[in-house]
Amino acid sequence: MNTYQGKQVLITGASSGIGECFARAFAAQGADLILVARSEQKLQSLAAELSGQHAIHVSVIPIDLTQPRAAETLYQRTVAENLRVNVLVNNAGFASHGYFEQVGLKRQVDKITLNISALVELTHWFLPGMLERGIGTIINVSSTAAFQPVPYMAVYAATKAFVLNFSQALSEENRDRGIHVMALCPGATETAFFETVGAQEASVGTRATPEAVVKTALAALDQRQSFVIEGRMNNLLAVLPRFVPRSLAARIAGNAVKPRTA
Ligand SMILES: NC(=O)c1ccc[n+]([C@@H]2O[C@H](COP(=O)([O-])OP(=O)(O)OC[C@H]3O[C@@H](n4cnc5c(N)ncnc54)[C@H](OP(=O)(O)O)[C@@H]3O)[C@@H](O)[C@H]2O)c1
Repeated sequence: MNTYQGKQVLITGASSGIGECFARAFAAQGADLILVARSEQKLQSLAAELSGQHAIHVSVIPIDLTQPRAAETLYQRTVAENLRVNVLVNNAGFASHGYFEQVGLKRQVDKITLNISALVELTHWFLPGMLERGIGTIINVSSTAAFQPVPYMAVYAATKAFVLNFSQALSEENRDRGIHVMALCPGATETAFFETVGAQEASVGTRATPEAVVKTALAALDQRQSFVIEGRMNNLLAVLPRFVPRSLAARIAGNAVKPRTA
């Protein structure tokens, strides 16, 4: 079993949902934390709570990861504060829902910037230090949306397919170099995610708790898995698209999340 006592864990999107649960879980195991998101107040109060409860060091770095060079700025802050990142959790992300042309271009591009570019850039900045030390862990939060095209969430699903493929390729590349890279693929999870999406239709099936998602992730890390899907039904749904034509998989997914007004 991995031990995180005294390790430095950087979590993006730590101000709510799955990221906040990662923070709580790593804190409970004695890890020091670097909490990243835009909402400084939420991060500060989580930091105060967790450092008090677990006698750990918690740093807060408020930043908007869609801004140009945000990942580099974040990395430089950790260098300036002498923080050595042993575990990187690329969790910040968001989705939108609706016909492609009805979602504003800025929102689509911000989604690609946050879900893909920031994740790749943070990996670029933090991986070399891990390689130098010969040990490190990167968790990239993907989704069950990664396993097939999803109409009405086309950009989001494509970003998560990128995250899954990127993570598994890096996992293989680094298999014998002491670095463990894992994609975490949650299905619908009870967080603020669907408030941001603004459409309950985007939620398929029973929602898991973020605590269950993080528990699954930590167990999969112990098993050194290159990806993990949360929940039995989600595992089944992720396999099904392999056995039907891609066009049919897209149609089934589209029917599941079709806007009610359509
Ligand atoms: N919930 C689900 O059903 C579900 C399913 C599959 C995958 N996921 C994935 O799980 C991850 C976490 O989502 P969640 O469900 O925990 O949703 P959430 O509660 O909405 O959390 C999203 C986090 O990302 C941060 N964030 C958003 N925009 C940001 C930006 N521009 N810069 C920096 N941080 C930003 C948010 O903090 P601030 O607003 O403070 O910046 C928040 O901490 C995402 O990658 C999501 O795609 C979620």
